[in-house]
Amino acid sequence: MSEKDLSTQVVHAGEKRVKSHNAITTPISQTSTYTFRNTQDLVDYMEAKLWGDEIEREEYGRYGNPTIATAEAKLAALDSGEAACLFSSGMAAVTTTLFTLLSQGGHVILTDDCYRRTRQFVTKFLARYGVESTQVPMGDYEALEAAIRPNTKVIVSESPTNPYLRVLDLEKLVAIAKKHNIKTVIDSTFATPINQRPLEFGVDFVVHSATKYLGGHNDLLAGVVVGSDYMIGAIKETQAMLGDVSDPNTAYLLIRGLKTLDLRVKRQNETADKLAHFLAKHPAVRRVYYPGLVSHPEYEVAIEQMTGFGGVVSFELDTDLEGAGRFIDEVEIPYIGPSLGGVETLIEQVALVSYYELSTEERAEIGISDSLIRLAVGIESADDLLADLAQALDKAFQTETLFQNVNGSHHLVPVVIQRR
Ligand SMILES: Cc1ncc(COP(=O)(O)O)c(C=O)c1O
Repeated sequence: MSEKDLSTQVVHAGEKRVKSHNAITTPISQTSTYTFRNTQDLVDYMEAKLWGDEIEREEYGRYGNPTIATAEAKLAALDSGEAACLFSSGMAAVTTTLFTLLSQGGHVILTDDCYRRTRQFVTKFLARYGVESTQVPMGDYEALEAAIRPNTKVIVSESPTNPYLRVLDLEKLVAIAKKHNIKTVIDSTFATPINQRPLEFGVDFVVHSATKYLGGHNDLLAGVVVGSDYMIGAIKETQAMLGDVSDPNTAYLLIRGLKTLDLRVKRQNETADKLAHFLAKHPAVRRVYYPGLVSHPEYEVAIEQMTGFGGVVSFELDTDLEGAGRFIDEVEIPYIGPSLGGVETLIEQVALVSYYELSTEERAEIGISDSLIRLAVGIESADDLLADLAQALDKAFQTETLFQNVNGSHHLVPVVIQRR
């Protein structure tokens, strides 16, 4: 289906045209094992497996499931990959991929702004098994190349990153990695295949926390890695040992969620863009981080390699930890909580959700401001969200946002924001 638009692929890719009982939806195959009609049937299956023939059936739940296989085929198509492997969570996708690619004595390079648990896994956990690592500043390609050693096996990065939405130049990354024969793993959770397809730039593996936009409804945990047939086969071998498989109910919810991915993400892109521009003009907002703003350090890269800038906007308020909390407590539509990518808008104070154990000074050292807010927009009305943020900022900072109804349209445009 690769020639079709992504809006068509999210609905049809990976799905059998005729399914059990002529149902239009992929059935949930709720089974842990698969039976054989007789001994010859079993022997035929084993022979086919031994010789690497195409096999149309499953054997045991930890090795495969038809509902999961459909989700995997759809995800592979959306990211322009040959194959995909679904996991019980995004972290399971990250850890199982790295377990497959690394051995004792290997070396990993990480960019410093990638998901905290991924960095912890590499620098703390894999270190116990003799895997070395170097962290390099995001966006510093000279430092990246200089960190390469003879035993460097993998470069792990993310784009856009959390929470600062930094954008990695995938062309530059791939050029450096290929020159030194190193594999690349990109966490593309914040972008989704709708906004960015790293495999098309020559990246080897794309991982997603499918818990976020791919599922899209804040009701499941899953992860996926997409890549070549051969390498995904190797990762599935590791998964068969670690056992971090997904389950058919989750795979069904994921398939269902994916069908509206294109609609949801495009709407979330538009809303986030509108909110980012509004926040950038507000006197109580010190700085806005959004790849669609000209002020973003990698705006030019984002324009080149992304087709949308995503649904997350981070911003620093002109206040302290308590002041940021006062603002958050005034918003009415977003829920307060971690995560992103679902239909409900979520808001969080990054210092409290991800760095609670650190002091203000320690957080400042690693570049996390106490007043940093991460807003992960859902699919609610952009105007309602904008009005909600405006009223919360006005209450928390004694500002006054006035709205004008431009050209008789229903869209509210904030025109004057002033300190009262
Ligand atoms: C960028 C990114 N990668 C990976 C993960 C891990 O995913 P999961 O929570 O599904 O294990 C997250 C979760 O927040 C994330 O934001």
